[in-house]
Parts: sequence; C-alpha cells; structure tokens
Amino acid sequence: MKPLSQFLLCGLLPSAGLASSSYQKQLGGLDLDSKPQLAAPSYRKHLLETHKQLVEISSISGHEVPVANFLHTYLPTLGFETWLQALPASNTSWGYLPERYNVVARPRSDASHSSSAAARVLVTSHMDVVPPYIPYHIDAPSSEEITGSTIISGRGSVDAKASVAAQIIAVEELVASKAINASDVMLLFVVGEETLGDGMRFFSDSLQSHSNSTSLKAAIFGEPTENKLACGHKGITFGSISAKGKAGHSGYPWLGKSATEVLIRALGKILEHDFGKSERYGNTTVNIGKIEGGVAANVIPKEAQAEISLRIAIGDQKNGADIIRKQLKSILEEVDSEALSLESKGGYGPVECFCDVDGFETMVANYGTDVPHLAGDHVSYLYGPGSILVAHGDDEALRVGDLEEAVEGYKKLVKHALEA
Ligand SMILES: *[C@@H]1O[C@H](CO)[C@@H](O)[C@H](O)[C@H]1NC(C)=O
Ligand SMILES: *[C@@H]1O[C@H](CO)[C@@H](O)[C@H](O)[C@H]1NC(C)=O
Ligand SMILES: *[C@@H]1O[C@H](CO)[C@@H](O)[C@H](O)[C@H]1NC(C)=O
Ligand SMILES: *[C@@H]1O[C@H](CO)[C@@H](O)[C@H](O)[C@H]1NC(C)=O
Repeated sequence: MKPLSQFLLCGLLPSAGLASSSYQKQLGGLDLDSKPQLAAPSYRKHLLETHKQLVEISSISGHEVPVANFLHTYLPTLGFETWLQALPASNTSWGYLPERYNVVARPRSDASHSSSAAARVLVTSHMDVVPPYIPYHIDAPSSEEITGSTIISGRGSVDAKASVAAQIIAVEELVASKAINASDVMLLFVVGEETLGDGMRFFSDSLQSHSNSTSLKAAIFGEPTENKLACGHKGITFGSISAKGKAGHSGYPWLGKSATEVLIRALGKILEHDFGKSERYGNTTVNIGKIEGGVAANVIPKEAQAEISLRIAIGDQKNGADIIRKQLKSILEEVDSEALSLESKGGYGPVECFCDVDGFETMVANYGTDVPHLAGDHVSYLYGPGSILVAHGDDEALRVGDLEEAVEGYKKLVKHALEA
C-alpha cells in the first residue's frame, strides 16, 4: 500500500457526471467557438495521422492482433525499439481467446547503456475497444481546415486510442528535445482492458519475475479523464446470487416455494441497503445487470439467479470488495439463508492515484481501469483526453484540441514523475 500522505485528499471534487455534461454540449456543437483557438502545434499532422491509423483498425477486446502488429511496425519508424509480449490462448469467462499481444516500446538511444537500463516511468494505455466497430471520421473537408475544435469520431477515438496516440507523441517529443533520457521511459499498450484486464495482469506478472520491477517509480495510465488528473476511481466487485425453491402447481403456492419471489425480496433489500459512501468517491452503487428464473407462468419457479455489480466507494483497494461481500452475505442470510447463496470473488476497493501536480484540474472516476492490475510499489497517475460519457456510446468523439492538450499533459506528467 502507498502511504496516504502521498496523495492529495481532494474531498470536494466535482462528480465526473457534472463536469462532463458541459463537455457533451460542446461536442454537440453548441459551444465550440467559445474555446480559444490555440495555434497548431508542430506535431498536429503527425498526431492526427497516428490517431487515425489506430482508430481505423478494429480492435474489439479479444481481437487486438492487427492493432498490435500495426504498432509493432509503426513505432520503430518513430525511433522506438518495440517488442510483442504474447499472451497464450486461453478459455476464459469471456469465451475462448486466441493468442494476443501486448506491445512494449522503448525510445532508441545512442548511449550504450540506454535500452538495457530499466525504465523508471511506464507510460501505458490499452489497445482494445468495446463493440461495435464505428469507422473513423474527421469533421473537416480538407486538412487545411482542421482546427483545435475539429471533431474526430469513431470507436476508440476516445477510449483509449486518443491516449495511445498522445502518449506516443509526448514521449517522442520529450526524447527528441532531450527533456528526458531515452532510457527512463517505457511505453506499454495492452490488450483486454475492457474485459478481463488480462493484458496488464500478464505484463505485471512478467515484470514481477524480473529484477527490473523494482526500478519502476511511476506508471502513467491513459484513460478518458477530460485531460484532468484523476485522484482515483471507485472499486468494483461482481456477484452472482442464486435462489433455490421447490417447483409445484401455481394454483397451490403453499405446496412449493418460489425461487423468484425469494430472489426479488433479496434484490429489493439490496437496492434499499446503504453500502457506504466516502467524501472522495461518493456512494457505493449497485447495478442489477441480469435476472433469470422460472420456466412458465403456471409453474412455481424452482430456480432463479441474478448477476449484480457494485461500484465501491469505501475501504481501500485491498479490503473494499470484501467489506461489500460481507454486507451482501448478511442481507441474503437475513432474507432466507436456506434458499439464497452468493458467488462472488475478486474485485477491489477504491483505487487511489497521485493527483498533486501543478497546472492540472482534478477529478474522480466511477469506472474501472488497469491501475489495480499493475502490482508494485510505483506511484500511479491516471489521465487522458476525451470524456468517459461518450466513450462507449455511438457518439464517441473528441476535439483535435483535446488530443493536443493531452500530449502536453503527458509531457508534464512524465517529467513530474521523473523529478519527484
Ligand atoms: C478450450 O476449451 C476447448 C473445449 O473445452 C478445448 O478443446 C481447448 O483445448 C481449450 N483451449 C485452451 C487454450 O485451453
Ligand atoms: C540523463 O542521464 C544523465 C546520466 O545518467 C544525467 O546526468 C542527466 O541528468 C539525465 N538527464 C535528464 C534530463 O534526466
Ligand atoms: C526486464 O529485464 C529483463 C532482464 O533482466 C529483460 O529480459 C526484460 O525484457 C525486461 N523487461 C522489460 C519489460 O523491459
Ligand atoms: C447517495 O445516497 C444517499 C442516500 O444514502 C442519497 O440521499 C444521495 O442522493 C446519493 N447521492 C448521489 C450523488 O446519488
């Protein structure tokens, strides 16, 4: 665990939801002109081309091989030594997954010691996206007419290929301007963030088995935070609730026992229950994502199940999920200990990130990330362009200026991490 003093306790943060609604309006075209037009940075064309190539390749979780191959051939042309890290094929809760690859890249350097020296800062995001594929589109008739407020849309244009592109350009710029030593940074683009977190977990395991794991001082994670520095995000855990009853003729309910009835009473209690809140993360929230049960209208149901998830605002990363599980179990026991059972393991409590850096607005996020999947004693930063509120929608989009601001943001964060 990191000592709490490392983190700024920013209790009165605006909720992600409030901060983002104005952003959506801007994206809807109502407020675009009010944003001051910044001069185009020298890397605009290069950044947009990188982003476009990434978004044009479909890379829905489980199908990341083409985008990994693209980065494996593209990054060397920008001066990076690049490796593919193979995750073996496996059968998972998300079905069969073929062999896939994380991409690891280090800036090439003339200094003889460089690439073999362990990196101190990891700059990372994910290559996979949620379905369905949505083609790339930039809202300008010609490249001359692109401005900071030009809108780019498409699946992954925000989550998280905006981060991937901005991170690549930021590290390239820092090394080229000699603001940092090439050997100090490493880029990592993982698979599976949107599903199992298996890409980051695999990388983390591989790092633990090497001596270079101890050298990592900081990891900068790219996710849509509207270019604000996240002070952390809620935890999450999943639960599967089963109810067992006794089948019978629906005309004689006293001769059977309705599993759906028991389940509904349990779910009602769960919805009413206060799972706890904290100043930083707000309320713990519940989602009943799936319900199944029974066989016909005139049969007393023997079985029923519900799949739920909870976004956790209490406890710490290690114990938060267990605290919530305990509360769930006691609710089920109270309602009907014989009929109800809970299957739930894993998950994590709220994840803290370092957010005390001059020049950044801060926020907290309600979504999960790969931050808890990288083991080690490093400081974590969470930052990236675009809004989570459009990230998984049909209208996923951001402005050219958001991407460019993120390049500058990542540059600042890498320098901050190396100097801290
Ligand atoms: C996945 O499961 C199938 C069917 O059970 C099996 O044939 C296959 O070998 C498994 N693959 C892996 C990689 O475990
Ligand atoms: C780069 O490394 C050299 C030698 O280790 C060191 O003296 C120098 O301060 C470093 N430069 C930066 C920008 O970190
Ligand atoms: C870590 O160091 C080992 C050698 O000790 C090297 O083979 C491996 O590639 C390094 N891992 C990364 C991700 O740099
Ligand atoms: C948090 O939960 C309390 C009840 O415990 C409720 O009054 C409040 O409106 C909730 N806050 C939000 C932001 O949903």
